[in-house]
Amino acid sequence: MAVFGERLFLSLDNKNSVIPATLVWLPTSGSSTAPPKLAPFQSWHLHKKDDCNSIQKATGIETDTDGRLWVVDDGSMVCPGKLWVFDLLKNDKTERIHQFPDTVVSYSYDNRRLSYIVLDKTPNDYLAYITDAKSEHIIVYNRKMDKSWEARQLYLRRSYSNEQYSVSVSELKNEGGSVAVKFIGEWTARPYRMLIDSADVLYAAFYNQSYTSKWNISEPFSEQRFHEVGRLDAFWPSTFALDTNGNLWMTHSNKSGGGIRHKLLKAAVGANSYLCSTSTDSS
Ligand SMILES: *[C@@H]1O[C@H](CO)[C@@H](O)[C@H](O)[C@H]1NC(C)=O
Ligand SMILES: *[C@@H]1O[C@H](CO)[C@@H](O)[C@H](O)[C@H]1NC(C)=O
Ligand SMILES: *[C@@H]1O[C@H](CO)[C@@H](O)[C@H](O)[C@H]1NC(C)=O
Repeated sequence: MAVFGERLFLSLDNKNSVIPATLVWLPTSGSSTAPPKLAPFQSWHLHKKDDCNSIQKATGIETDTDGRLWVVDDGSMVCPGKLWVFDLLKNDKTERIHQFPDTVVSYSYDNRRLSYIVLDKTPNDYLAYITDAKSEHIIVYNRKMDKSWEARQLYLRRSYSNEQYSVSVSELKNEGGSVAVKFIGEWTARPYRMLIDSADVLYAAFYNQSYTSKWNISEPFSEQRFHEVGRLDAFWPSTFALDTNGNLWMTHSNKSGGGIRHKLLKAAVGANSYLCSTSTDSS
């Protein structure tokens, strides 16, 4: 999930190939409580199955403060993995299509699983960190050649575990080098979605749990309940995104009682996306 301006973007899981578009959007405003219609992004022409000029399987998505939408595309059996960048301020124009070389992300569909993305705003540009859950690599992509930036931390978790880790971003920029992974602490469940706001609060959503938690990363690791509802019975119960007006947007997938219902919630947390952060903390 990602938000920019008046639009909220979602990538949809297409496990059984029944969803015609894996990247969609809906308006953030409007007073109607009727279920909103999802619009394909940019339009239907970008959602042709097994056409490698189309998005095959959008997974991680993120918006930056300059109005770009970054989309990780895990591809298909016939199409390789890609990173798409769109300019939302220029009629959603496609700004970049980066096809990962085979040496970075396997062309063989069974040997890759591109999933999450976070962005790092450097003085002149952006870097993207993308997880490949199959090869267990973090792919670093720089939009231009970067110059320099403060040492910062990238937060990640271990697969199939509640453990939270971090790595120093400055170490990741050394192509071909290795990085030290630091253990931070243990959550009460397995997180799959994490997000940091401009006040350095990390939010986490957990597999199979109907609550979300938070941790102030300026302090020693300590899990606090952020939001909790009754039973949801969903494997991926929630996701969230921050806009630039101090709102946290959150979805709930409710599978209890058969079928599946999605709810969209909004909370004024008074902080923005981590990309708006002015923090120079290098801890
Ligand atoms: C996990 O989810 C399954 C079904 O999705 C459910 O049967 C089970 O009770 C859940 N476990 C916990 C600990 O919530
Ligand atoms: C996070 O912790 C720092 C250090 O204790 C504190 O100054 C800051 O106010 C906290 N932030 C939030 C949002 O609670
Ligand atoms: C989930 O859906 C069930 C069945 O429709 C409903 O009874 C329950 O209240 C819902 N849970 C939440 C947390 O909204």
